[in-house]
Amino acid sequence: MRNPQLNKHGELQHLLTLDGLPREVIIGILDHAAPFTEVAEREVKKLPLLRGKSIFNLFFENSTRTRTTFEIAAKRLSADVVNLNVSTSSTAKGESLLDTIDNLCAMHADMFVVRHSASGAPVLIAQHLQATGRDHIHVVNAGDGRHAHPTQGLLDMYTIRHYKRDFTQLSIAIVGDILHSRVARSQIAALTTLGVPDLRVVAPKTLLPTAIENLGVRTFTDMREGLRGVDVVMMLRLQNERMTGALLPTPQEYYKVWGLTPEKLALAKPDAIVMHPGPLNRGIEIDSAVADGTQSVILPQVTFGIAVRMAVMSMLAGQ
Ligand code: CP
Repeated sequence: MRNPQLNKHGELQHLLTLDGLPREVIIGILDHAAPFTEVAEREVKKLPLLRGKSIFNLFFENSTRTRTTFEIAAKRLSADVVNLNVSTSSTAKGESLLDTIDNLCAMHADMFVVRHSASGAPVLIAQHLQATGRDHIHVVNAGDGRHAHPTQGLLDMYTIRHYKRDFTQLSIAIVGDILHSRVARSQIAALTTLGVPDLRVVAPKTLLPTAIENLGVRTFTDMREGLRGVDVVMMLRLQNERMTGALLPTPQEYYKVWGLTPEKLALAKPDAIVMHPGPLNRGIEIDSAVADGTQSVILPQVTFGIAVRMAVMSMLAGQ
């Protein structure tokens, strides 16, 4: 069956998830992103690839990095960008998501970049556009509930390839709140597709989804064991806003057992890199000495995110 994100020519129509996205498409996006990193060095940081296109950023949930880097990426591609202010929009008066979409389509939108607390909201929009004969409009998922955060997953892949080159030689640990993390799901989908032979998820039992081993990962409930000898440590934030019930002890106790300190990082390879999608909770999942240390690539992740988002948007709607 054809991947619903690809059109009949095998080109990207929407970016909704990394699950099932072919390896050659992922590699194609990473390769396409590489030259865009140089645009930031130019005096005029602009390319005409999306000139005349209207891109609507629809963030129904808070964001700093994703919203801003999508806006910068779209502007560097010369698109016209509209940031819908959800709190002052008619959503606050009860307008439905799809009515909002229909009205923005009437303003000749070419692309929607959507973040939503409900898993599946971007898929719903893509299906609605197709059902109403507007499948020339593209949808990019900027993070939906616990489901997926595909551009975060892609910028993470770009970062790993930049520092470590060959995915097929790596040991990688994803550490923290796997249960509530859309980032972890996108990372696991991409890393397994790219052939990482030793992919570990490291978390307390209460923050591990059932049957996660079926996704091709090894589980560790002892952080020290999980970090031993890895090339890449991918930390995750505790997603308190998505937790129901008491899954954890106090933040201080979590830090003591699950916080990435210099002493725990020393169990990884000496040249291991430390990643985090942000926002950071210093003193809870990560110690400041690690977050700001020499092995941290957390801020380069953000910078690479602009090039990766430029690649995705230009592949979807570029001239
Ligand atoms: N990584 C990430 O999604 O960060 P924001 O919530 O700030 O966009």
